[in-house]
Amino acid sequence: MAKITVIGSASMDLVVEAKKRPAIGETIMGESFKTVPGGKGANQAVAAARLGADVTMIGCVGDDAFGEQILANLKENGVRTEYMKPVTHAESGTAHITLAEGDNSIIVVKGANQYVLPSLVEKALDVVRESDMVLIQQEIPEETVEYVSEICDKVNIPLLLNPAPARPVSEKVLKQAAYLTPNESEANVIFEKISITDALKQFPNKLLITEGSKGARFYNGMEEMTVPSFKVEAVDTTGAGDTFNAGFAVAISEGMSLEESIRFANRAASLSVTKFGAQGGMPTRAEVEKEL
Ligand code: RIB
Repeated sequence: MAKITVIGSASMDLVVEAKKRPAIGETIMGESFKTVPGGKGANQAVAAARLGADVTMIGCVGDDAFGEQILANLKENGVRTEYMKPVTHAESGTAHITLAEGDNSIIVVKGANQYVLPSLVEKALDVVRESDMVLIQQEIPEETVEYVSEICDKVNIPLLLNPAPARPVSEKVLKQAAYLTPNESEANVIFEKISITDALKQFPNKLLITEGSKGARFYNGMEEMTVPSFKVEAVDTTGAGDTFNAGFAVAISEGMSLEESIRFANRAASLSVTKFGAQGGMPTRAEVEKEL
């Protein structure tokens, strides 16, 4: 069983479904409103646990009702929460999501996620050291990403950086991480001075660019490859990237090849979009294997 540690955000998603997005200054009527657990870190932790990994999450929630629900949800999904810290000086993180015209738009309010600091990770170094892989994203402070990258490099634990949402990433972190999984627009922010093709060549078998329903691209040392995704009827694409990251981390930690791992991740991600909510459609291991 793969041991995965996720260091990242845990939030509540406040989701409005509407027929269209309002223009500036316009008020429109929505179709529904729901609150569901989200946050890129928690989503990846839940997805990895459903796919059969032993998952520990390191993060923060507010000392509030959302915080309690976020923790309960992680536990229900089998994620270890000993290093999830409730903080009193900030509300739980929230993501304000509009689902309209077949896609989502999201505003994230960091809240307690801004307190996922190096000092919190420091308390969990034993867990980090025992991991087969560490997953991190960018809804937490940059200094934490840099600290974790340094630690993983030192203790030789592969780090998967999912650089979402987009922000520049230091050369050092780009070098230290074992895998980088931006989508196309995130890749354009990280590699602003070079083309995607050149970036892929610079990081063979390490930089995986996700392209939604098209699949994922990487350079295998000789040529650029796309591992295609699977066709499905999409209901809600929120959390598809998180499911991809978790699926990839589980598969590669279990010893599957890079290509097989991407295929496994694509299959899991494609299933995740068939139901409402970031975590609503995240499949179990059996569901992915049945489809593969
Ligand atoms: O990746 C999807 C997630 O991004 C949502 O669950 C939301 O919380 C935002 O952070």
